[in-house]
Amino acid sequence: MKSTRLCCLFLPFVIQYTSIVSSKSISDWTKVVLTHHWPVTACMLLGSSCKSPPKMNYWTLHGLWPNNGDSCNNSWPFNVTEIQSLLPDMHTFWPDVAHPNGTKFWKHEWVKHGTCAVVDESVNSEFKYFSKALELYKKLDLTSVLMKYNIKPSPSYYRMSDIRNAITSTFGVHAKIQCIPPSEEQSAQILGQIEICFNQEYGLTDCVHEKSTEGSSPYFNKLQFFGIYQELNTGLMVCDEQLDTYYPPLNELHK
Ligand SMILES: *[C@@H]1O[C@H](CO)[C@@H](O)[C@H](O)[C@H]1NC(C)=O
Ligand SMILES: *[C@@H]1O[C@H](CO)[C@@H](O)[C@H](O)[C@H]1NC(C)=O
Ligand SMILES: *[C@@H]1O[C@H](CO)[C@@H](O)[C@H](O)[C@H]1NC(C)=O
Repeated sequence: MKSTRLCCLFLPFVIQYTSIVSSKSISDWTKVVLTHHWPVTACMLLGSSCKSPPKMNYWTLHGLWPNNGDSCNNSWPFNVTEIQSLLPDMHTFWPDVAHPNGTKFWKHEWVKHGTCAVVDESVNSEFKYFSKALELYKKLDLTSVLMKYNIKPSPSYYRMSDIRNAITSTFGVHAKIQCIPPSEEQSAQILGQIEICFNQEYGLTDCVHEKSTEGSSPYFNKLQFFGIYQELNTGLMVCDEQLDTYYPPLNELHK
C-alpha cells in the first residue's frame, strides 16, 4: 500500500525531472567566441602539414564557438551543399590553412561547434551557422582595426599593450589574444589567435580567460581531434603582456 502511494506521489516529479534533464543535455549557449587566426602563424604551428602556405595577408576565421559544449549532435552531419552559396566567402575568409581546397576544416568546426550552436534559433541550420560567423567576422574587420592603429605584419616587434589597446579601444571589450611563446630561435612571442566574444544577442562582451584550462598548449587541445592537424606539436598560449610580439609577415613562410 505504502509503496504504491510513494510511486504515485513521486511519479510526476520523476517525469518532470527527466524531461528537464533531457532538454538540458544541449542547453542554450550564453556566449559565443569568434576566433580569428593569423594564417602565417597557423601555418608555422602546423609545420609540415602546411604544404601550400596561405597567401592571405589578413586574419582569417578559425571558428564560432558557443559555450554550451562540444560535439553536441553526431546525427547532424556536415553537408557542404548546404553552404554552396557561401563557398566563395568560405574560401576567402575561412580557409583551411593546411589544405586550401579542402572542406575538412569546416566539417570539423561544424561537428564540434556548429552542432552545439544550433540550439539557438539565430543559427539553427548549417547555413545559418556559417553565415552568422561570416557576418560577425566581416563586421569586426579585425585586420583593418589593427591597421588603423598602425599594427601590421612587420619584421619589427610590437608591444602587447599596443595590440591590446587597438582592440579594446575599437570594440570596448577585452579579447583573448594568443601567441606562440618565445623559443630558442625566436626571442619574441608570435601573434597567433584573437578571440572576440559575443552574448546571445550578438552584442560584444568580454572574453574571460579561463585560467585553469589554459594549460600548456590550448591550441593543441582544441585541435587534438582534428586529424589533419595531428602533426601540430607546439601550441598557443595567452600572450604575455610583458614580451615583445612578432606579427609575422607573409614572407616569414618563404625564408
Ligand atoms: C540532431 O540532429 C538531427 C538531424 O538534424 C535532429 O533531427 C535531432 O533533433 C537533433 N538532436 C538534438 C538533440 O538536437
Ligand atoms: C545535402 O544538402 C542538399 C541541399 O540541401 C540536399 O539536397 C542533400 O540531400 C543533402 N545531402 C545529404 C547527404 O543529406
Ligand atoms: C586548389 O584549387 C585551385 C583552383 O581550383 C587550383 O589551381 C589549385 O592547384 C588547388 N590547390 C591544391 C593544393 O590542390
